[in-house]
Amino acid sequence: MKVRKAVIPVAGLGTRFLPATKAIPKEMLTIVDRPTIQYIVEEVVASGIDQIIFVTSEGKSAIENHFDYNFHLDSVLKEKNKVALGEELNNISNLIDIVSVRQKKPLGLGHAIWTARHVVGNEPFMVLLGDDLVLAKTPCAKQMLNLFDDVGESIVAVQRVPADQTYQYGIVEGEKNGRDRTHKVTRMVEKPAPGTTDSDMAIIGRYILMPQVFDLLGRTTPGHGGEIQLTDALLALSKKRAMYAYEFEGTRYDAGDKLGYLKAILAYGLTHPVLKEGLKAHIREIAATI
Ligand code: G1P
Repeated sequence: MKVRKAVIPVAGLGTRFLPATKAIPKEMLTIVDRPTIQYIVEEVVASGIDQIIFVTSEGKSAIENHFDYNFHLDSVLKEKNKVALGEELNNISNLIDIVSVRQKKPLGLGHAIWTARHVVGNEPFMVLLGDDLVLAKTPCAKQMLNLFDDVGESIVAVQRVPADQTYQYGIVEGEKNGRDRTHKVTRMVEKPAPGTTDSDMAIIGRYILMPQVFDLLGRTTPGHGGEIQLTDALLALSKKRAMYAYEFEGTRYDAGDKLGYLKAILAYGLTHPVLKEGLKAHIREIAATI
């Protein structure tokens, strides 16, 4: 079955970025020339998915506005003869069909995904977390969809992390199954205490999930941090049907972390056709002085 829908939870408060996120959603923080959420939406579009479902909360309307048509701005740009810029803005609103659902209480990532159940319906779907940006030749979502065509079951994207960082992630234990970069999931645990897992495979924010996960999410009780954890429902799902961990090709940036955000700005700046040479020259210059 084809994956047609992507759920992007954007309801989080962004406390790690206060005061920057006091009045604007963290998803609207800029990386080079566009808000972080636009990179995620562009990845979805480049991967051939038809519809995005934002799970939002109060104070997040800037995200919906960003992907909407702005009549006033369009008229002003036309009056000023700024045709190319006007087109660029309209292209953003024409990118993809977007709907929003509201998460009424901040009960956790698992609850946010569960909130989208009626819009997703009974079909496999993708989940992308806005903090995780992946720079890759083939978009990470597309790599996963290619694998899904082959296995037809849930897939979580993983990357290896140092043992002293596993406590920051959902960690997957698995066994090789003959496919390149792919492991069959045997166990998963959200933010394990040090020494409680031997695995270094950390979930990054890309998932393809079978719709049976919704029932399990509805029955998941609060876990790590008192929140309804997606990882807990995925563990339950992995006991009922096959699930795969996929070591994607590319570099992931944690744009929800201050240092990760700065690294993402540099990485995306260094791939920008107009800005990269100037940025490179500047980096060389300051590297010599520090
Ligand atoms: C979430 C997931 C976690 C995953 C991480 C990736 O955690 O719960 O399993 O490893 O995203 O970014 P969060 O970072 O939202 O606490």
